[in-house]
Amino acid sequence: MTPTAFAPRIEQNQHARSEPERAAILENPGFGNHFTDHMFLAEWTPDHGWHDARVVPYGPLSLDPATAVLHYAQEIFEGLKAYGHADGSVWLFRPDANGERLQRSAHRLALPELPLEWFLGSVRALIETDRAWVPRGEEKSLYLRPFMFASEAFLGVRPSQHVTYSVIASPAGAYFTGGIKPVSIWLSEQYSRAGAGGTGAAKCGGNYAASLLPQQEAAAEGCAQVAFLDAVEHRWVEELGGMNLYFVQADGSIVTPELSGSILEGVTRDSILRLAAELGHQVVERKVSIDEWREGAADGTITEVFACGTAAVVTPVGTLKWRGGEVTAGDGGLGKVTAEIRQALVDIQYGRAEDRFGWMTRVL
Ligand code: COI
Repeated sequence: MTPTAFAPRIEQNQHARSEPERAAILENPGFGNHFTDHMFLAEWTPDHGWHDARVVPYGPLSLDPATAVLHYAQEIFEGLKAYGHADGSVWLFRPDANGERLQRSAHRLALPELPLEWFLGSVRALIETDRAWVPRGEEKSLYLRPFMFASEAFLGVRPSQHVTYSVIASPAGAYFTGGIKPVSIWLSEQYSRAGAGGTGAAKCGGNYAASLLPQQEAAAEGCAQVAFLDAVEHRWVEELGGMNLYFVQADGSIVTPELSGSILEGVTRDSILRLAAELGHQVVERKVSIDEWREGAADGTITEVFACGTAAVVTPVGTLKWRGGEVTAGDGGLGKVTAEIRQALVDIQYGRAEDRFGWMTRVL
């Protein structure tokens, strides 16, 4: 079917927050707590394809209790950020990469592909409408959350014949409270995040739901995040609950677990591969065993560990804990290479460094 041209209708929120209310939120937004005055919505049906694109006042969705997503979790999402630059302009970081990943996730979850023009158009339309909500200042951004779900009211197990796509926006500060401080990681030895042939490479809600019990276990052990191993041998490091991992070696090279089909293809992960190489590091994607992490951190072969993702940017990993032991890479603080890579990335995102890779897209 020829995709319908993207032409959203805009319905202004008559009860938008006042300027002082918005300013108070933007002063200290935290992560995922506050939402802007509007949201984007569109619908898909087999007969009409994608249609009814609209920006409407932010508010609750009314769902029939039989709505398929509530029962069978046919849902995918994305995360990307809009950055306010010093000259007042607003930019997105690699939005095409998020749009393409949403298409791959849609394929795996038997959801309809959203044309890239619709993805980029929806994000743009929401930012334009809620432009006053783009926070200014270091570490602050407008986090965009595009998501798509099975919205047909039907209890049979088959791909939904009505799908809803939405984008909401949330002013964001640092993902972890306490700024750029190392986070501690709990090693989940009992649970895996994803298996071969499963949905690990897709950004679907189910993967995150499955990470919550081990995440709860991590919190009970005093850790901020959980690390998952592969589901077959329980030996190979995969990723954290919502972030990819990097290991800095004593020789300055950096290693990240190779994409195995069960690891999320992180946009930040991919950007760091290229950025670190430009900074002169040898960058290697390969299998990393949990013994290599434990022994390397203990004997100094691994000098730094960091996690990365859109929300967390680049976050140093301090101590790895497991039942019966723990180990810390380096001095447990923010390492030199981690800081260098983080700075190089945010300098591009906030427009303080030249966009050598053509990653930034201007919105406003
Ligand atoms: C992101 O980094 O955008 C994520 O999706 C991680 C998490 C907030 C779910």
